Amino acid sequence: MKLLDRLRDRQFNKMIEDFIVRDEEGQELVTRIEETYKIKIRPLNYNAVSSYFLIDMLEKAFTEGNISILPSEVTALDVGMGEWHYAPALLSFLRFWKGPREVSLEGVDFPERHHRKLVNQLQKKWGLKAHWSDVMDLNQKSKYDIIFMIHMLGGPRHCRSFGVPYRRPSLMFPHIQSLGKPNSLLVIIAYTWAGESAIVNCFTRESRLTEDIYWPQLGKKFISVIDNRFGFHNNRIYICKSPYVDLEACKRDEKENEEFDALLDMTLSS
Ligand SMILES: C[S@@+](CC[C@H](N)C(=O)[O-])C[C@H]1O[C@@H](n2cnc3c(N)ncnc32)[C@H](O)[C@@H]1O
Repeated sequence: MKLLDRLRDRQFNKMIEDFIVRDEEGQELVTRIEETYKIKIRPLNYNAVSSYFLIDMLEKAFTEGNISILPSEVTALDVGMGEWHYAPALLSFLRFWKGPREVSLEGVDFPERHHRKLVNQLQKKWGLKAHWSDVMDLNQKSKYDIIFMIHMLGGPRHCRSFGVPYRRPSLMFPHIQSLGKPNSLLVIIAYTWAGESAIVNCFTRESRLTEDIYWPQLGKKFISVIDNRFGFHNNRIYICKSPYVDLEACKRDEKENEEFDALLDMTLSS
């Protein structure tokens, strides 16, 4: 990272810290989450704040979806965990949402993309397990109570820009469903822009528990700063219960995605 970028990052992190320390709403959110979910992330930088927003968002969606009961022992999977900076927050949420309970949290992502060192440190400190593979190669039938997909990419173009292969929803979702126990939950968090969000059209209506748009409830000044600097957009959160795959809808989604991409390619090359 260039020196200028590093300085900007440092300045930005300082701004977040100042905001949280000075702003009443910010303080309330941090205090409430730290007390309820027995987590304390320091320094209060971007990763910490986005982790706290994640808990806040899950809390709202679980309340709205009436998801009050999770088993006394939960095995969870995060598909496409990336650098997994939010893993401690996810773990704490699952432990203490109407808990406490035992939670074992696993993640899966391609081996070549990420800072394994970072994830290895998290694994050791928090007792997590990372699988380094394509989710399509994860062979864990009916193992998970809850499966997360957090900003796990949209159509072929987005996958390409990330340097990962596009997996067709009509193949990927049946596989993901097979990793979950009967009645397990699938939680999808996507930005609201069309490509990523369209993923939530791949499921049956009957399986849907809740669908919501989340805007972090913090001061406007803070939001505009964080949004401009990091593209910290509003999120769509969607929760459904297995069995949830609608194969016809998956095929429609991939066809639309492919057509849209071809059109965009044509427009860009003309
Ligand atoms: C935009 S990143 C999000 C990372 C993380 N969930 C977050 O929100 O910070 C999407 C991640 O999904 C991973 N991914 C995409 N397709 C995947 C697949 N078929 N199997 C495993 N991981 C996949 C990518 O490698 C990438 O790390």
